[in-house]
Amino acid sequence: KIIVLDFGSQYNQLIARRIREFGVYSELHSNEMKLEDILALGDVKGIVFSGGPNSVYEADAPKCDPAIFTSGLPILGICYGMQMIHYEMGGKVESSEERQYGRTEITIDHENELFAGTPKKQTVWMSHGDKVSQLAPGFEVLATSDTCPNAATANIEKKIYTLQFHPEVRNSEYGNDILRNFVFKICQAKNNWSMKDFIATQTKKIQEQVGSDKVLLGLSGGVDSSVVAALLHQAIGDQLICMFIDHGLLRKGEAESVVETFGKNMNVNLVKIDAKDRFMSKLKGVTDPEKKRKIIGNEFVYTFDDEVKKLTAGEEIKWLAQGTLYTDVIESGTKTAQTIKSHHNVGGLPKDMQFQLIEPLNTLFKDEVRALGEELGLPEEMVWRQPFPGPGLGIRILGDVTDEKIKIVQDSDYILREEIAKAGLNKEIWQYFTALTNMRSVGVMGDQRTYDYAVAIRAVTSIDGMTADWAKIPFEVLDRISNRIVNEVDHVNRVVYDITSKPPGTIEFE
Ligand code: XMP
Repeated sequence: KIIVLDFGSQYNQLIARRIREFGVYSELHSNEMKLEDILALGDVKGIVFSGGPNSVYEADAPKCDPAIFTSGLPILGICYGMQMIHYEMGGKVESSEERQYGRTEITIDHENELFAGTPKKQTVWMSHGDKVSQLAPGFEVLATSDTCPNAATANIEKKIYTLQFHPEVRNSEYGNDILRNFVFKICQAKNNWSMKDFIATQTKKIQEQVGSDKVLLGLSGGVDSSVVAALLHQAIGDQLICMFIDHGLLRKGEAESVVETFGKNMNVNLVKIDAKDRFMSKLKGVTDPEKKRKIIGNEFVYTFDDEVKKLTAGEEIKWLAQGTLYTDVIESGTKTAQTIKSHHNVGGLPKDMQFQLIEPLNTLFKDEVRALGEELGLPEEMVWRQPFPGPGLGIRILGDVTDEKIKIVQDSDYILREEIAKAGLNKEIWQYFTALTNMRSVGVMGDQRTYDYAVAIRAVTSIDGMTADWAKIPFEVLDRISNRIVNEVDHVNRVVYDITSKPPGTIEFE
C-alpha cells in the first residue's frame, strides 16, 4: 500500500483515491504519524506528502517524523510536501513575489522514470505562494517552468521526489501518469487491490474490533447507511441491529423498500420505528423553515434515544456504526484542513450517549461507496439512490406540514421519478424531486373552476451538491410529467419548473 500523509490540502484524499483507482491500496493519515506506526500498517511501498496551506518557516508549520527521510521508502512530496522536504533536509524556501495559481507549462530537463511516457513540455496545475529557492543537498532539478525553476526535483539515491505542482488534479495533463510512475516504477507497488479486498480487510477489522458485542446502526435508507448495513451484516450477521426510524416524511415507497431489502431479502436484524405521529404533532402549524428543521432534527434524536433505551433495557450496546464518508470528515474539518462547513448528520447524536463509533466508509468517496454497495450485492436502485435530506419531505413542503400535503409531494415525486427513469435520465441528473409551493392558483379542469396547489419540479446537475446547475430536461419529458401530475394527483392544478442554479438558489426549497 501507499500512505498519504495529510498536510492540510483540500486535495489530499484525492491523491489516495487516484492511487486506489490504479488498483493499489492507499490511505490518508495524519502528518504526525510516526515511522514505526506507518510500517506497522504492513506492506507499505511508499509515502506521499500532500500539499497544505502553511508556510514551512512558520513556527507551528506541520512537519513529519524525520525518521521517514532515512527509512529508505520512496517519498513523493507535493507542493507544501515538497517545500517541507527541502526545508527539513537543508534547502531554502522563500515566499514568491507573486502567488502562482493555475495552468502552467513545465519543461522536463532530465529524463527520469517519474515522467516516463509523458512529453517534454506539458501543462500542470500550480497553486502556491512559497517556493524552494535552494535545493537540499543531493537533489537535482527534473523540470522547470518560466516562473518556477524547481518545478520538479529528485534525490534519486534516496528515492525522494518532489513536485511543486499538483499531479492529483485533473488540470495537470499528465498528472495521472506521473502518479502512476511513482507508484509502479519507483515504489514497485503491485496492482492487486479491489473493492473485494476492501470488504475483506474491513470485515476482519470489524470482527476483531467488536468481538461478540452488538452493534447498532441508524438506517435511513440512503446510500451510505445502506452500504454500512450490508457490510456489517456480512461481517457480524445478527450482532448488527439496524434501527430504521420512519418519520413519515419519506418518499413514496421508501419505507417499504428498506424493509423489503434489509428485513426480508437480506435477513438483517431490523427494528422499524413508526414515529410519524410524534413528528406530526410537533410540526403542527409550524411554518418557519429553520424551526421545522430543528424540530425534525431534535425529534429524531429524542426518538432514537427513547428507542435505544427500550432496546438496551436488557443489555448494553457499546458500538454505534455510522455511514460517515470522507467528504463528511473533510467538511467538518480535520486537524490540518480548514473547515468548510460543519456537517450535519441526521440531527446529530444525543450528547449523553456513550457509544464507540464504527465508521468503515470514512476513507471513501461517494462513487467508491456506490461501487462497494454493488460489490456487496445491494440492489441497483438503492446504490444509485439520489441524496435525500435528513429532514425529508418536511423541507420540500413550504409552510406548515399536513398529511394532505405530504401525500401531494409523495405522489407527484413518484411520477417524476418514474418519468425520469423511463427517459433514461436517472444517472445523469444528480438530484430531482418535487416540492409543494405554498401557492394556490386558479385553473380550469373539465369546465370547472379549480383553486388548487402548484407543484414545483426541481432537478439539478452537480458534482458534490455544493454548487449546482438546473438540469435541462427535454421539453417532451417535462410535458409528460406535468400532464401526469395534474391528472393523477389530487389538489394540484399547476406545475412549474425551477430554473435557478446554486448559487444563488439552494437545491432544497427550505
Ligand atoms: P442545499 O439545499 O443546501 O442542499 O443546496 C445541498 C445538498 O444537501 C442536501 N441536504 C441535506 N442533507 N441533512 C442532510 O443529510 C440536511 O439537513 C440537508 N439539507 C440539505 C440536499 O438534499 C442537497 O443534496
